[in-house]
Amino acid sequence: MLNIQNLSKSFPNPYGPENKLFENLSLKINKGEFVSIIGSNGTGKSTLLNIISGVIKETSGNVYLEDLDLTSLPEHKRTQIISRVFQNPSHGSCPSMTVRENLSLALNKGKLLNLKKCLRHKTERLEDLLKDISLDLKKHLDVQVKYLSGGQRQALSLVMAGVSKPEVLLLDEHTAALDPKTSNEVMELTNKIVCENNMTTLMVTHNLKHALEYGNRLIMLHKGEIVLDVDEDTKKRLTIDNILKKFEYAV
Ligand SMILES: Nc1ncnc2c1ncn2[C@@H]1O[C@H](COP(=O)(O)OP(=O)(O)OP(=O)(O)O)[C@@H](O)[C@H]1O
Ligand SMILES: [Mg+2]
Repeated sequence: MLNIQNLSKSFPNPYGPENKLFENLSLKINKGEFVSIIGSNGTGKSTLLNIISGVIKETSGNVYLEDLDLTSLPEHKRTQIISRVFQNPSHGSCPSMTVRENLSLALNKGKLLNLKKCLRHKTERLEDLLKDISLDLKKHLDVQVKYLSGGQRQALSLVMAGVSKPEVLLLDEHTAALDPKTSNEVMELTNKIVCENNMTTLMVTHNLKHALEYGNRLIMLHKGEIVLDVDEDTKKRLTIDNILKKFEYAV
């Protein structure tokens, strides 16, 4: 279980009182739960993921993964446990390395190997990882990632996140920069990777259709507070209109 306990975060404000974003926020996420997180701009979604991954230091409170206090670990140690896919397709992989090299590094995440040893993966093994992706990635094993489309890069980032078998997957608007068709394909791939690996996943999205369609729990944040937290059954009965109304009331 990912257990966020009494989390508070304030940002300094040189022109007035500090900006209190979270005040004693608590949230428990069961192992294997796939949670969609929605909410208006500036409401704290990315900051929450940044605190979990150690990019931003909390003011107080703790984040536990089972008995392990993640807040006591530096960011680089948390990367052994947590994988992230970002909104910007160029952030999830190394652009000057090929798809093969990126995948090989992901397969050896956490191991102390030199690059030559890292790269000793059979082509069939790597192709197998890409077999279900409709974005032609298999044909691009020896292409540098910087030459791939945004959709291909996001697909690669997801496959890399999947093969490293993280305990927690954090997705921050990872389909936002993609066209509607590619965005749907990347969501399907996301769902497959999350479900196959039973990964505890937090997915921030402004795509309400995706938020309703995927995952087994829906949380809405507003001004640093959880204003909606529904399970899979309730989520199935919600419509986009229901959610839009909740956005209107969340002022
Ligand atoms: N390093 C920082 N310094 C000061 N304020 C910050 C910092 N990081 C975030 N904030 C503030 O915290 C609030 C929440 O920001 P955050 O990026 O978490 O919102 P969000 O819900 O992800 O929004 P969006 O949907 O636009 O991505 C905002 O008011 C933002 O200005
Ligand atoms: Mg954000």
